[in-house]
Amino acid sequence: MESKKLKIINVVGARPNFMKIAPIHKLMLKSYKIQPILVHTGQHYDEKMSKVFFDDLKMPVPDIYLNVGSGSHAVQTAKIMTEFEKVVLEQKPDMVLVVGDVNSTVACTLVAVKLGVRCVHVEAGLRSFDRRMPEEINRLMTDVVSDCLFVSEESGMINLKKEGIPDEKVFHVGNVMIDSLVNHIKSADKSTILKNLGITAGDFCLVTLHRPSNVDDIENAKILVETLIELSKKLHVVFPIHPRTLKNFGSFGILKGFSDNEKIKLTEPLGYLDFMKLMKESRFLLTDSGGIQEETTYLGKPCLTLRENTERPSTVIQGTNILIKQLDKNLIVSHVNDILSGKTKKGTVPKLWDGRTAERIVKILENSM
Ligand code: UD1
Repeated sequence: MESKKLKIINVVGARPNFMKIAPIHKLMLKSYKIQPILVHTGQHYDEKMSKVFFDDLKMPVPDIYLNVGSGSHAVQTAKIMTEFEKVVLEQKPDMVLVVGDVNSTVACTLVAVKLGVRCVHVEAGLRSFDRRMPEEINRLMTDVVSDCLFVSEESGMINLKKEGIPDEKVFHVGNVMIDSLVNHIKSADKSTILKNLGITAGDFCLVTLHRPSNVDDIENAKILVETLIELSKKLHVVFPIHPRTLKNFGSFGILKGFSDNEKIKLTEPLGYLDFMKLMKESRFLLTDSGGIQEETTYLGKPCLTLRENTERPSTVIQGTNILIKQLDKNLIVSHVNDILSGKTKKGTVPKLWDGRTAERIVKILENSM
C-alpha cells in the first residue's frame, strides 16, 4: 500500500515570491513523498507583475487563487487571512510553506500556526533592523512563530540565534532565488529585449525603484527623477517602472521630466527572462530591491542600492553591492562615475548560493515525515 504523502501548501503572493517558490514546487511535484498545492493570494495581480512569471518560470497555474488584490496593509493582510483560512480548513495540509517577507508571507503564516499546522519559512532570519520597513515586521513575525526556518546567508543564522530560536528549527540551506537564476540564465540569453529597446550590451544601466521610503515621498521622488536625467547624459537608463512608482510619480506630476529623453527607456514591469537578460548585459544596476542585491552579487555585476540599510549584508560584505544611504544626486553620480571609470567592487558568491538550495529544502522536508 502506498504510504501517505506529506501535503504541503506552497504560498505565493507578490512578484518576488514567484522565483523563490518555482524551484521548490517543481521538485515537490516530482517527489514520491510530498503532495504540493500551489496557492496564489493575488496580492500582485497585474499580468506583468504575476502571470508573465508563471510563464517564464514554467510554473503550473496555481491550484487555488484567492484574488485579494491591493489595499492598506491591514485590509490586504486581513483579506489574505480570511481567504487563506478557508483553504487550510478545507485542504487540511500537513504544512504551509511561505517565502520571503511580503504581506502574503506573514498573513498565511499566522493562519497556519493558529490552526495548528506546521509552518515553514524559506529565507528566514534576514534583518534590516529597521522597523519602519513593512517587510521587517513581516520577517520578525513570520520567524518567531514558524516551525522550520530555512536560511539563505550566514547573517540569518546569527540573527535567529540571538532571537532565541532553537537550533533544531533552523537550517542554513542557501539562496533559493539563485536556483531560479541558474536554471533560467540560458533561456534568458534568447531574450530580444535589448533589440526591442534599441540598446546595446554594456551601454546602459538598469534601474528599479519601488520602496515606500523612496517613492512615496515627493521630495525623494524628485531627487530620483533628477538623478536619472543626469545619468542619461552618460549612458542609456532602462527603467521598468513598478505600479506603485508609476502611480506616485504620476500623481506628483514628475514623469514629464522623462519625456523627450531618448536615453531614458521607461517600460512596464518586465518578465523574468527579459529582466535577467538586461541585468546580465547592463553596466550596473541602481535599485532599492531586496532580491536584485542578491542576483547582482551572484552575477558579479555592480549594484548601487538606494537604502539606508540592507537585510542582506552578505551582498555588501562579500558581494558587489554598495549601499548609498543618503538620497543625494551628487553622491549617486559620484558612485556611478567610479563604476564608469572602471573602479568597480569585486565580489565573491556567498556560501550555498549554488543552484541546489531547493534540493536541500525538499530533502529536509521529506525526511521530516
Ligand atoms: C510588495 C512587497 C515588497 C516587494 C514588492 C515587489 C509587501 C509589504 N511589500 O510591495 O516587499 O518588494 O511587492 O514588487 O508585501 N499594484 C498594481 N498591480 C499589482 C500589484 C500592485 O497596480 O499587480 C499597485 C497597487 O496600486 C498597490 C501598489 O501597487 O496599491 C502596491 O502594491 P502592494 O502589493 O501593496 O505592495 P508593493 O509596493 O508591490
